[in-house]
Amino acid sequence: MISLPHISLATAAHARGIAEMSREYIEYGLGWSWTHARVLKAIQDDATNVAVIHERTAVVAFGIMRYGEERAHLVLLGVAAGHRKRGLGALLLAWLEKSAVTAGLERVQLEARADNPDAIAFYVEQGYGRAGTVPGYYRGAVDAVRLEKRLWVPAGAAP
Ligand SMILES: CC(C)(COP(=O)(O)OP(=O)(O)OC[C@H]1O[C@@H](n2cnc3c(N)ncnc32)[C@H](O)[C@@H]1OP(=O)(O)O)[C@@H](O)C(=O)NCCC(=O)NCCS
Repeated sequence: MISLPHISLATAAHARGIAEMSREYIEYGLGWSWTHARVLKAIQDDATNVAVIHERTAVVAFGIMRYGEERAHLVLLGVAAGHRKRGLGALLLAWLEKSAVTAGLERVQLEARADNPDAIAFYVEQGYGRAGTVPGYYRGAVDAVRLEKRLWVPAGAAP
């Protein structure tokens, strides 16, 4: 029987796994800023969703989205190396975007490492458009590409 991946909000027990995935897959070469303590704080923050897909006890994918007044910000998204290209990243991102729509937010913005063309291609595939470059965004060492997606258009607004 095929079982569909189950997405849930992270608990404190997931924080260490998420922090380690961030260090390995996203923050490589930059120093570790998304430590266990910082992830824990995000899990406890009312304006942030930390979502996970786990298999048995291991986190295989996670996403962190912060919900602001006007837009949502995708802070981090990562899928464990052996679980990529199975649709988990797209599924998790869609789940976080749906929460943004529920919160009445029209847009999601994110930054991706300019030296990570795979991630940029993934976001473009998910409907994000390039909205500029931010030189030295990551610790002054690596540029970011800013990407943005409009989730819905309010009635009467220009598309
Ligand atoms: C980027 C990332 C989150 C994508 O997750 P994923 O689960 O592998 O992606 P999906 O399987 O949901 O892919 C959905 C679609 O996106 C596109 N895509 C995914 N990975 C891609 C890649 N490496 N290159 C080009 N397109 C890609 C494809 O069109 C794919 O559809 P397909 O499999 O039918 O071709 C994952 O590769 C990852 O964790 N990378 C390391 C961490 C990172 O870079 N995070 C993002 C920056 S915060």
